[in-house]
Amino acid sequence: MTLAVSGCDDQMFVYALCRVTEAAARAGAAQVGRGTRSNTTSTAIAAMRAELDKLAISGQVIIGEEGGEADGLPTGYKLNRGNDGDTKFDIVVDPIEGTSYLARGMTNAMAVMALAPEGALFNPGPSFYMEKFAAPAAARGKIDPTAPTQVKLGQLSSVLNKPVSELTVFVLEKPRHRELVHQIHNAGARVALYPAGDVAGGLMAAMPDSGIDALMGTGGTREGMLSAVAVRALGGELLMRIDPQLTTEKAAVAKAGLDTTKWMGINDLVKSDNVHFTATGITTGLLFEGVEREGASERTQSLLISGSNKTTRQLLTSWHDLDQDT
Ligand code: FBP
Repeated sequence: MTLAVSGCDDQMFVYALCRVTEAAARAGAAQVGRGTRSNTTSTAIAAMRAELDKLAISGQVIIGEEGGEADGLPTGYKLNRGNDGDTKFDIVVDPIEGTSYLARGMTNAMAVMALAPEGALFNPGPSFYMEKFAAPAAARGKIDPTAPTQVKLGQLSSVLNKPVSELTVFVLEKPRHRELVHQIHNAGARVALYPAGDVAGGLMAAMPDSGIDALMGTGGTREGMLSAVAVRALGGELLMRIDPQLTTEKAAVAKAGLDTTKWMGINDLVKSDNVHFTATGITTGLLFEGVEREGASERTQSLLISGSNKTTRQLLTSWHDLDQDT
């Protein structure tokens, strides 16, 4: 069955996109706490692909996930169901953001997807890690990403009209961030340390009053590009720089001629407002609840963010009839 929806201002289109992450989240939820990384991801990838294939759009996956041979969603995977003249999309997927969280039965795992018109997203090539600085809309264009941490927090404090001591910065808890955490503490701000999941960190940083004022540190490139789409639609700030961590990655990035010193702003990363982001909770986390069984239904919660819709941000709760699944 093809979902007969197209057109970017259409609320039905946004709901149809949401079905893609709902399906991945429900498949992922069956694996919560089972500790099996490969099974965990491959069932969610297959479920995501099956729903993507139903959408009446054309485009291609530009940051994908390899799955089983027959049902993976690799980079370069094509969708060809759009009408002539419709926008073609570049798509970034993460069927499970927080795979280790999920395998260990922890909070904050989610299924995520982002779409932008063909060519509108920065192409990170073989880069796997990027350094990131995300903040709310008031910070757009006001933060110098090359400045020392203390200076950046001072700039953020001015634009948010909040003392540095009241700022909370989301940082992934990784050995590479020990010095950063030290610098943030020395500047007088708070650090919210999470072992994984910087898509949630980037989103919260861009949402005023989320309790998080900024995201700092180095995380996945895929997660960075997913966040970039959402942050662009939310009007927030996201600055990123390619920051390879692995020896093979460093060599590949150098070979591809990518500049690791260049900070990119949100308009370099995402060159269109006609963008869509959808994320569905697998385990309950900072932004929404995870998949829950309720009698004969499964309940999901999703965050839908669109740059071209009048309603920028929606939280959607859906009940999926389990009988319909068989
Ligand atoms: P996974 O889904 O691959 O486990 O990624 C989770 C995550 O924490 C991301 O949110 C983050 O961007 C990235 O991993 C950081 O990578 P690493 O754990 O290798 O430092």
